[in-house]
Amino acid sequence: MSAIEIANQLVAAGKGIMAADRPSPAFYKLLEDEGISADGDSYRNWSELLFLTPGLNEHVSGIIMTDEQVRLADGAGRSLIEQVIARGMIPGISPFQGMVHLAGSAGETVGSGLDGLRERLAEYAGLGVGFSKWRAALQIGPGTPSYYAIEANAYVMAQVAALSQEAGIVPIVEPEVMLLGDHTIERCCAVTEWVLSRTFEALYVHRVDLERTLVKASMVLSGNECAEQADVETVAEQTVKVFRRRIPAAIPGIVFLSGGQSDYHATAHLNAMNANYELPWKLSFSYARALQREPMTIWRNRPENVPAAQAALYQRAKMNGLAALGLWTEELESEAVVS
Ligand code: 13P
Repeated sequence: MSAIEIANQLVAAGKGIMAADRPSPAFYKLLEDEGISADGDSYRNWSELLFLTPGLNEHVSGIIMTDEQVRLADGAGRSLIEQVIARGMIPGISPFQGMVHLAGSAGETVGSGLDGLRERLAEYAGLGVGFSKWRAALQIGPGTPSYYAIEANAYVMAQVAALSQEAGIVPIVEPEVMLLGDHTIERCCAVTEWVLSRTFEALYVHRVDLERTLVKASMVLSGNECAEQADVETVAEQTVKVFRRRIPAAIPGIVFLSGGQSDYHATAHLNAMNANYELPWKLSFSYARALQREPMTIWRNRPENVPAAQAALYQRAKMNGLAALGLWTEELESEAVVS
């Protein structure tokens, strides 16, 4: 499949991406925080649960994995990545090796993992990986994000995108404006517009083909500690406004991160954008928490809970797949609870 075909297949009608790329140390820390006991196989078992959920490919086009996950085999020794491909989903890689302090900044960050990336991407392509994801985490606060952090992150994302395209891999460029804080939706709107504009300038400088690039964006939202929370219609309106201004129509699709929104809001916001606006790109999801929060609560590292956890994941994928078409309704959620 060509890179353009991969990019378009990732945002095929009614489908989105599952971000499963929590590295194993962070995964084990999460289990500990939740009071769930773990053993050496827990990471593999959780990855297997997610990747092999029956019917997931009806609503999920691709799965973002870690370096560890692309090399995992299931309990019977069969490669997980090969099973994902056999189920018609495209494996993706997060080649990122953690956030580090941006030297000279007041506590801002940049992703690390550029060393040896050309060679690693070539290896991932050989394993069947079709796309990559690289994230910038920009925090709204007094004096942040700074001009410096926006520029530095835009350049790193663009370098990764150019290297990915060189390897025949579709880059997903993820400039996340974080939800944390007491900022208003107006401030988020202004910051998101600035960040997107500088990100696309850097992609241009790095000669990245937009036709085989996807954007993973944050929605324009009120900060999670802001006293006044914008409603669903306002979030949809402000997000679409900023994207129309700053995301070229040559991009095949924009996939959202959930960023700490509730499962309900992640779905309702996506649906409102697709239901109410004519858009030049596909708008879909690339959620981690808004797909996996409930399955994790059900699973609790017990094999007997795997089918119920997979059913919960399937349900969230289905609801978000409908939201990607603008066809989700609140009634569909309650019907699912009853059945
Ligand atoms: P959330 O949906 O939990 O924000 O994660 C998406 C992601 O992949 C961040 O890089």
